[in-house]
Amino acid sequence: MLVERNREFSTVCVVGLGYIGLPTAATLASAGFEVKGIDVAEHIVEELNEGRAHFSEPDLDMLVRGAVSSGRLTAYTEPQAADAFIITVPTPIRDDKSPDMSYVEAATRAVAPVLQPGNLIILESTSPLGATEDMAGIIRELREDLVDGEELSVSLAYCPERILPGQMVRELVENDRIVGGITPHDARRAGQLYESIVRGEIHMTDAKTAELVKLIENAYRDVNIAFANEVANVAEAHGLNPWEAIGLANRHPRVNILNPGPGVGGHCIAVDPWFLISADPDKAKLMAEARRVNDGRPEAVVAKIKKACREHGTDKVACMGLAFKPDVDDLRESPAVDIAIALAKDGFEVYAVEPHVNALPEKLWRYDNIRLAGLDESLAKVGVVALLVAHKAFVKRASDIKDKHVIDAVGLWGGTR
Ligand SMILES: NC(=O)c1ccc[n+]([C@@H]2O[C@H](COP(=O)([O-])OP(=O)(O)OC[C@H]3O[C@@H](n4cnc5c(N)ncnc54)[C@H](O)[C@@H]3O)[C@@H](O)[C@H]2O)c1
Repeated sequence: MLVERNREFSTVCVVGLGYIGLPTAATLASAGFEVKGIDVAEHIVEELNEGRAHFSEPDLDMLVRGAVSSGRLTAYTEPQAADAFIITVPTPIRDDKSPDMSYVEAATRAVAPVLQPGNLIILESTSPLGATEDMAGIIRELREDLVDGEELSVSLAYCPERILPGQMVRELVENDRIVGGITPHDARRAGQLYESIVRGEIHMTDAKTAELVKLIENAYRDVNIAFANEVANVAEAHGLNPWEAIGLANRHPRVNILNPGPGVGGHCIAVDPWFLISADPDKAKLMAEARRVNDGRPEAVVAKIKKACREHGTDKVACMGLAFKPDVDDLRESPAVDIAIALAKDGFEVYAVEPHVNALPEKLWRYDNIRLAGLDESLAKVGVVALLVAHKAFVKRASDIKDKHVIDAVGLWGGTR
């Protein structure tokens, strides 16, 4: 068993059992650690103690069931004493786009009373620069007994998470990890813990660099998507097909432009760049502009759909796909949902075709003119079809929409001008 190699840590307390914390807790338990999973949501704790995951992710159910039935994973609503702590709570942005660190602060304050000298505390939540040092400050303030001159008798490290929904269980083990310590000793200790579960390489650095690494990874992706979306804005203004132009440009041996789309959704790429922009608006200008370009795409797609409806004298539109990315059932922060809402607000009748869900999300309930519908039913009713998500289920349906006016916003059927 992997944990036998790890003499220093045998119990790990994972605080926050969401998309990141639950797979992490179950993976640690299946590697032999005694894991205490903590969540403030009682239903998550109850479900976990019954051996069930509270969201769906390939292979997670089996992993959780095995971990709980072995007795190595138990959930609680309050932090418990352990050798190591991993904090995986939300870090959203506020309305003014500044990071909301209240969950990390609350988790740190909750963990502080159970800390013992020699413990290791790792922050995995995506965080602004300096967050790990701020956690150390809270611990210093609450636990003077753990402070010895300048030194803390506990270790603190930052280790960002990069796993992809849909492949979380595999990537948790296979991805490389960046481990940044407040001190080099802290980094080495945190690296030692991850060595027990990770097959990828572990790269050591300081805590602030590790925080920056996570943020620039997602800002890099956002900026590159923004370039593709800007190409789309320019091409469409001239009546040209951006996917055709980008496909041809990518025949250049050193050019690799991404695909444009209807906007950037999800809670990572569209959020994390703000952690850098809000702290350094004068320096992170390209990132800020990229956010503006990507946030403007849903409106551009809505304008194209409305124009098509005007030309065809119809107010009935099929929106194909509502998820924030292909082949998932996650509709949160989805530009496709925003497009459906914008059309509904302007009085269009929207047939939402989303094969990955059985019901519309709450955000759409108030619109009588948006209904969840099958593709065949929708095609019988509408004149305009807007393809908003490149779900695999839509690939083979291109021939069914030949007689419709199609706005292909993702390029799955070759894109549109
Ligand atoms: N989901 C992803 O794909 C992903 C990928 C990389 C990084 N991240 C980052 O990881 C962090 C966690 O994201 P997530 O998707 O797992 O969030 P999530 O919302 O799915 O889960 C967070 C959990 O923390 C719990 N929680 C909140 N405050 C708590 C507290 N004080 N004590 C104990 N539990 C508490 C919540 O009830 C929730 O169950 C965020 O910073 C996110 O940006 C997420």
